[in-house]
This record gives sequence, C-alpha cells and structure tokens, in this order.
Amino acid sequence: MSKPRLWLQLFEREAGRGLGRREQLCASLRQAMRAGELELGERLPASRVLAADLGLSRVTVEAAYGQLEAEGYVNRAVGRGSFVAIASGAGGQRKRPSPAAPRIAPLSRRGQLITATGGCEDPLQPRAFAAGSPDLRAFPLALWRQLLNRRLRSDAALLGYGDPQGHPALREAIAGYLCQSRGLRCRAEQVLVLTSSQQALQLCATLLLDAGDALWMEEPGYRGARTAFAAAGAAIVPVPLDAEGLCPPAGAAAPRLIYLTPSHQYPCGMALSLPRRLALLGLARQDSRCFIIEDDYDSEFHYEGRPMPALQGLDEAGRVLYVGTFSKVLFPSLRLAYLVLPEALVQPFTVARSVQDGHSAQLPQAVAADFISQGHFAAHLRLMRQLYRERRAVLQEALSSLGWLSAQPSAGGLQLAALLPQGQEAAYSRAAAARGIATPSLSALYAGTPAQDGWLLGYAALTPEEIRQAVAALAPIGTSPGRRPRLRT
Ligand SMILES: Cc1ncc(COP(=O)(O)O)c(C=O)c1O
Repeated sequence: MSKPRLWLQLFEREAGRGLGRREQLCASLRQAMRAGELELGERLPASRVLAADLGLSRVTVEAAYGQLEAEGYVNRAVGRGSFVAIASGAGGQRKRPSPAAPRIAPLSRRGQLITATGGCEDPLQPRAFAAGSPDLRAFPLALWRQLLNRRLRSDAALLGYGDPQGHPALREAIAGYLCQSRGLRCRAEQVLVLTSSQQALQLCATLLLDAGDALWMEEPGYRGARTAFAAAGAAIVPVPLDAEGLCPPAGAAAPRLIYLTPSHQYPCGMALSLPRRLALLGLARQDSRCFIIEDDYDSEFHYEGRPMPALQGLDEAGRVLYVGTFSKVLFPSLRLAYLVLPEALVQPFTVARSVQDGHSAQLPQAVAADFISQGHFAAHLRLMRQLYRERRAVLQEALSSLGWLSAQPSAGGLQLAALLPQGQEAAYSRAAAARGIATPSLSALYAGTPAQDGWLLGYAALTPEEIRQAVAALAPIGTSPGRRPRLRT
C-alpha cells in the first residue's frame, strides 16, 4: 500500500469515536505502534507531509507528535525527525531504541505540558507568503555597524554581566518612545527588557497562572500566546470577536488573565473599540487577581492614520502588562523585546527573569538604545511604513483578480487575512505548497472549531514583483465560488 494511503487508513480507523483531530491522530499512531504496524525506530513522516496527506493543519500534527513524545511513544531529534520509540508486544513494552532514535529522559508533568503544545515556529527565511517577517533587505546595516563599532571601541563594560532588568539606556529609550508614540504612562523603572514577546508571555504565564486558572483569549488568536498559557496548564477560554474586537459574554466573572492584541487583532485585524477597552479595564478592577496582557506586536505599522493609543495608557489601577517587540520593527534575530509592568510586578518579574537566563545581551541593547535616541528608529519606521503600505496595496490589487480568495480589510501590519471558500483550506494549501508558496493557515489559529477557512498572507518582506509573481502562481489553483467569503464575527 502506498504510504499516504497507509497513514490515511490508520487515521480513519479511529474516526467515529468523537475525538478531536489531534486526539484521533494520537490514538491511531499509538494503536499502530502497539499492534506492530509501525516498528521501533521507524521514522514518522515530517509533520508538514503528514498534515498534507491527512488534510490536517501542521499545527495539529505537531501537537500530536509533541503529545506522543511526552507519553514516550515517539522520540524526536531536532533536524533528524520523529521516530517510533516503542516495540509492539504486551502493552507496548519498550525495547532499547535504535541508534536513530536516541532516548530522552522521562519528563516532568510540566515538561509534558510544554512538549504537548508542539512548540513555536517562526519562518526561517522570508518567502512568499510566510507571515510575520519584516523586510531585512531594507535594514540600514551600515548604520547599525557604525553604532556597534563605536560602542565596541568605547565601552568594555558591555562585555560583562548586565542588569537583569535591561540596559538603563535602552529602558529610558523604550519608555520615551512608548510615552510619546503609543500613549503609555510609564517610567523606565517599569520596563523589563527581554529576548522576545514569547519570553514575556512565558514569564506572565509562569508568574501569574496556576494550573486550571481561567484565561481569556481572542478566538482566533495568536498561537505563541496560546502555547505559553497552555504550557502553564491554564484553562483557556476562547472568546469570540465582533467588529469591535473581543466580545465577552455579558456578566462573565473576571478571569485571572486576559490576553489581547487591541491595536490590530491577530489575525483578523480589527482594533478593540474604546467602550470595550473601558469595560475590560473595569472588569479587571473588580477583581484584584485579574490582569490584562496587551500584546502590541505591530502597532508601529499602521497605514490608515495613527493607531489608537495603547490600552495601558487608560489603566488607572495597574492591571495592564504591556508587551512590545523589536522583532518586526528592527530584526528578529536581535532578540530584544520588552514588558512594561505595573509597579507592583517589576520586582517579581525581574527576579524570575534572572532565574531564567540572567539578562539580554548587553551590546545589542546598547546599540538599540543609540539607534532610538539618535533618531534613526523614527526614520527607519517612517521608511518601512511607506514600503509596507505600498506592498499591501500591491497584494490587495493582485488578490482582487482571484475570484476565490477574499482579502479582509486591515489597517496595517505585515500580513493580511484572506478568506477561502469554506472547507477548501487544506486542499488549496496543498496545491499552493506544490507551487512553492507558503500559505499560513487561518483555521489553525482557532482553539475550537474553526469558523473560517483562510490564509494569513505575509507581504512585508516581499518586493512588489515577488508579490505579483506569487499571486500569479496561486491563480490556477482555485475556482470562483460565485460569492466571495466574508469574515464572520
Ligand atoms: C501577536 C504576536 N505577538 C508577538 C509576536 C512576536 O514576537 P517575538 O519575535 O518577539 O517573540 C508575533 C510575531 O509574529 C505576533 O504575531
């Protein structure tokens, strides 16, 4: 039997048991291993390949592999693949694993929760239409090198250990920028410099959530955040969206945490309205344990006038933790991001950060501080905004020629949500992949049953010509459904 058919047959054998798709896949692989249909040391297909064969999202397959690894059925080796870790026999007794499948130590419960999330993945190479990549070709490298050399010549202290809270000059520069451009009310003493938003979310989860605590998330929402909260054992409550953003049920009790992308909802693009902002702050004020995490991941790239000021600026009660990152506005490998914390949380978060990894690298922090304070940051943002606005227009125009893909309105960002005829996402994604085009899945961003099939198309890193070519490559794969899909809220 051909391999894709074998996988499909194994998968379908567990259908009709009322399992979710991830659990169905786990059950079918466990069963096949116990029955000896998959042998000890056998390599499982790459998650991308299996996802395509079974019509699942890659996230689902990754999560299933992660869960099976946590349970001891599978060994995974970075860069090598995933391997069957048990031999068939009574109860699936484990034999010595083959050299191809090194044993890993048994994991803690926490370790199992973390690996069961399937982990996070960012695009390694900017290419059509990987989401979330800024244009690295347009970065002023010569200027950065100059600033770096100047610091290297004059500041040997940067080679030593640094302040866990972050280089003072960078904290000053960040606070100044946020107060002026994003309407925050904060001092440099409230800024904690980190390596990434992901680390910020992970710290919030570690310090504020106990297993089983309720956390509200936008549905659909950012997978990196869901991963961090799921790894902490949170009871994640997906909250639906409408045109005004997060729309919690009337009279709902305040959860422990609310995670929001209020400037530009990820992935749908709407801004959270002022009445909703005030209502959520009011809700948080009623319960001293409730905090709001504001992930302002790409508000610098707003193309229709100015973005709404940050929610943090409206917070009178110290309930908002503000997350920002330099991954999009400078470059991802810089690994610099920040949290702006209510006064009472600064010390515990700084201690926790020192326990995790000490501090962020000093030299890049100092260079980033110089880049901001000398005015280069503002100039770079102006230039990038112009570039990305043009690219968004090119993509919108190119997509409008396809009858089957409906670009959703968006005030900014590096990517655009586009809807597909319902039920077509897996097949269309396979066809796009066969043409070398990445089409990040919209349905994979739902915690529950996806309400929309679609793609989140990254355009910022692509030249107009690259965008047109990639859309032309997509053109033959779809047929017009007659009526364009609309975002359901
Ligand atoms: C909603 C959201 N938050 C944060 C980030 C990125 O953060 P970092 O690279 O700093 O972890 C992204 C990147 O795509 C994002 O989409």
